[in-house]
Amino acid sequence: MRWLLIIAALALPASAEARDFPRDFLWGTAISGFQTEAGGAPANADRRSDWWVWSHDEDNIAAGRVSGDRVERGPGHWRRYRRDASLARRRLGANAFRFSIEWSRVFPRSTTGARTPRQLDRLADRAAVRHYAAELRAIRRRGMEPVLTLNHFTLPSWLHDPLAVRTASAGVGPDDPPPAVARGGWLSTRTVREFGKFAAWAAWRYGRQVDLWVTINEPVVVAVNGYVNVPGAFAGWFPPGVFSFTAAIRVLRNLAEANARAYDAVHRRDRRAQVGPVHNMIAFTPANPASANDRSGAEHADYIFNRIFLDAVVRGHDDRDVDGRIESGERRRDLRGRADFIGLNYYFRSRVTGLGAPASTTVPLFDFLPANTYAHPQNPSAPPCPTTCTEFGWEIYPEGLRLALAIAGGYGLPVYVTENGIADGDDDQRRAYLLDHLRALRGAMRDGLARVKGYFAWSLVDNFEWAAGYYPRFGFFSYDPDTLTRRARPSARLFRRIARSGDLPNP
Ligand code: FCB
Repeated sequence: MRWLLIIAALALPASAEARDFPRDFLWGTAISGFQTEAGGAPANADRRSDWWVWSHDEDNIAAGRVSGDRVERGPGHWRRYRRDASLARRRLGANAFRFSIEWSRVFPRSTTGARTPRQLDRLADRAAVRHYAAELRAIRRRGMEPVLTLNHFTLPSWLHDPLAVRTASAGVGPDDPPPAVARGGWLSTRTVREFGKFAAWAAWRYGRQVDLWVTINEPVVVAVNGYVNVPGAFAGWFPPGVFSFTAAIRVLRNLAEANARAYDAVHRRDRRAQVGPVHNMIAFTPANPASANDRSGAEHADYIFNRIFLDAVVRGHDDRDVDGRIESGERRRDLRGRADFIGLNYYFRSRVTGLGAPASTTVPLFDFLPANTYAHPQNPSAPPCPTTCTEFGWEIYPEGLRLALAIAGGYGLPVYVTENGIADGDDDQRRAYLLDHLRALRGAMRDGLARVKGYFAWSLVDNFEWAAGYYPRFGFFSYDPDTLTRRARPSARLFRRIARSGDLPNP
């Protein structure tokens, strides 16, 4: 008996070590409210957000800025959230579940007149408040840890009228000051204040159910895709779809501030909560490594896309003039230290061509053009894929995840990979994509580049991919838009095997 115990004790650490990922590692998928909730009949669509307005706007559809697909034909997670939670648990082996609450569903009307969470609560839509509480319960009951995102791209219409911003911006140059618009979205500090109140309310209402909070999803994407649209060259066509460097920088700074206000608000209610932003990172490499312009362009792209926001929320750097140097007036204690972890989203590589001169006086480091997407059936005129690309034209580059982890890990905080995934309707690339990225993750962890605590694949089920609509299919599950029935893609089994065992299969 004694011998048995000794043998068992000796065997334990060894077998624990042998796992590729630790036992308490979080495994799950990520979804967002606007992209997945609507669908079925009735569609339970929320018409009160900027993205609703933006994606239904006839001008946008006619100009090809958005696909014209209707979010009402989505996977209907609003109705199916319990079954979706079961799918995540049983079919994907998940022990965590990342999703977002829609601000405009909870607060369809302005909260400007209210101050405290209690006062805000009187203005909240009861059905929506109950719905999200029930969703959190459903997730916990199935043994999963919820990761709750407070803002995943959408804003309530009472704070953002993207069509008015678009109209007011016509004829305004990219380095001119942005026009003043009453419902200016993230251009306006009012949105920052209201977001702080919304976060305080959410922590007050859901604090007992949530330990892991995401403040804002992909702030740089919000700023760049919304405010740096150069038709034909570089355009993500997020609302309000304008081309203004001054606006993009103002929005980015407001988002850093919003992160801090939400961080403080949640912590005031719950000291032990873990709160952080989710940041998209891109692997920038010079288009031609022999070109000095391309090399410095890639460095500048890396600074603007990958580092500037994290420098703000972790170190309090407020690089107003975006020159890469932090002068004495550019340190802000009220922004610093506002992340308990870094949520890292990683998808693709971007080859950077240096322009040799700045394209903007507002952003002097903007002297490059990144190639983010390549030709795919919906966009045949884009340049051909240089290596292997996804159905959405994103260049697959697993080594880039290691680069991104090295940057994120350098801030000294724990990291969650909060999104990583591939548009692959026929599922012939997803297994390799998943394995290659998880191998890169394991390598980065072994080499001590980052303390990584979880991995969330994008996404559970096919959903509304913003301006691109339903064409890109990111789900482990597809769905029938009439019946909402889900069907697993074969790669779902691979995810489950890895999530349950904490081990990658041998090559
Ligand atoms: C990320 C977004 C997410 C989804 C994926 C494909 O940028 O956070 O909503 O659109 O890309």
